[in-house]
Amino acid sequence: MSMSDSVVYLRCIKPTCGGTRSVTECEFTCPRCGDLLDVTYDWQRLPVPRSLRDLEANRHPSVGRWFQRGSRSSEASPLFRRSGVWRFWELLPVAPPEEVLTIGEGQTLLLRADRVGEYIGLRSGCLHLQYEGLNPSGSFKDNGMTAAFTHARMVGARRAACASTGNTSASLALYAAATGQMRAIIFIGSGKIAFGKLAQALDHGALTLQIHGDFDDALERVRQAAGRLSLYLVNSINPFRLEGQKTIMYRVLEGLEWRIPDWIVVPAGNLGNLSAFGKAFLELRELGLIERMPRLAAVNAAGADTLYRLWNDHQLRWHGGAWEKARAESYFHHLKETQRKASTIASAIEINRPVNLPKALRSLEVSDGIVCTVCDEEILEAKARIGAGGLGCEPASAASVAGARKLRHQGVIAADELVVCVLTGHPLKDPNVTVACHGTDEHLFQEVLGKRGFGRIASANPPVSVPNDLERIISVIEART
Ligand code: F0G
Repeated sequence: MSMSDSVVYLRCIKPTCGGTRSVTECEFTCPRCGDLLDVTYDWQRLPVPRSLRDLEANRHPSVGRWFQRGSRSSEASPLFRRSGVWRFWELLPVAPPEEVLTIGEGQTLLLRADRVGEYIGLRSGCLHLQYEGLNPSGSFKDNGMTAAFTHARMVGARRAACASTGNTSASLALYAAATGQMRAIIFIGSGKIAFGKLAQALDHGALTLQIHGDFDDALERVRQAAGRLSLYLVNSINPFRLEGQKTIMYRVLEGLEWRIPDWIVVPAGNLGNLSAFGKAFLELRELGLIERMPRLAAVNAAGADTLYRLWNDHQLRWHGGAWEKARAESYFHHLKETQRKASTIASAIEINRPVNLPKALRSLEVSDGIVCTVCDEEILEAKARIGAGGLGCEPASAASVAGARKLRHQGVIAADELVVCVLTGHPLKDPNVTVACHGTDEHLFQEVLGKRGFGRIASANPPVSVPNDLERIISVIEART
């Protein structure tokens, strides 16, 4: 079948290249120039919604017929319509509904958060938090994993692999166990992964390889191993992952009753989300479903600030696809020469060589986006405020709120703008950091924070030690509440 016959195919991100691949392949770089690939749709031949509200009304996509694969008659999974990813199937029709592999992911919430908004410096009603910790494995990764697993099954893969700072691996392990479709192989940097996430990989039975090195080392190795052994790679270099992650933005719009926010603020690690969010809005605009885009604000941890450096110091830009790859490569070369490794308490985004860099540059360009950094102290303080505000998250997620606060104070975000911060992972992913921040356990504090030179956070809420005596217990309660 020629590419022009299929309604979905992979296309090089560089408009001037024109390289394509069929979705029946599982190579994720351009066969002509080696750049990244986008999942691309022939919207003319697909049942696209005519308005955003149609997406709400139209929850019964009449499906397989659009793909004309002959005699397929089986039904979509009962979870298909409940999945917060696949109820937007019309906007990511990577496979017919009956071929989608889902465990009902993406049933997440957008919540107004006035107290956290006040901390940021926003007026009442202006801050919403998109709580992706509600996913089955506790992070946003499940949005993408369902799409990657759907593709993996299409191409007949039996073994899937990833390098991870913890959440991708937890998600992969969970999907492999839940669907029984695949054996999961996980590469992690030794000592680089939060306990909650390691626990998930082990509990779900994944083959877990601890590499002496960090995430960037592990990613390089997993790509080599995947090439040699034909393992199906589920890192966000896999463009199907990003298709699933687009739906986080559809749910944000849905939660705002289809209003377009002024800002989307997102933590920046391997830059999958930033890439996916930009693509989501670009496509909505292309389909005539929105007229303007929100501005994307990407937040790096100060100790893992490649995007910030390249965007702000080196002025690296997408330039409609003519981005200067050599400039990025010379920066990476410099990191290697000076042996600079990423280092942040927000272990999920402890990444120095983000694979989705060009797609992220594109997202920033089309959305008039910006990049900022926040230090670990700002992240931890923001995390405690988010927790006290009624929603929890892991440290990396709190970078979004810390970043919004910084941008508000710099006057980049105005007090009456509508802002959405994405909370990417559940608070129980990294309990050590939380307990160390609040707690009175000196040993844990030293181990987790003290050795990084941190003091206590301003809004610490330590447990109170009380003798086993009712009168004393009552007097403590009376004194403190
Ligand atoms: N927040 C959390 C909780 C994450 O786990 C990650 C990435 C990010 C933010 C950054 O997202 O990569 O799309 O820019 N975690 C990956 C992992 C790298 O292996 O779990 P990104």
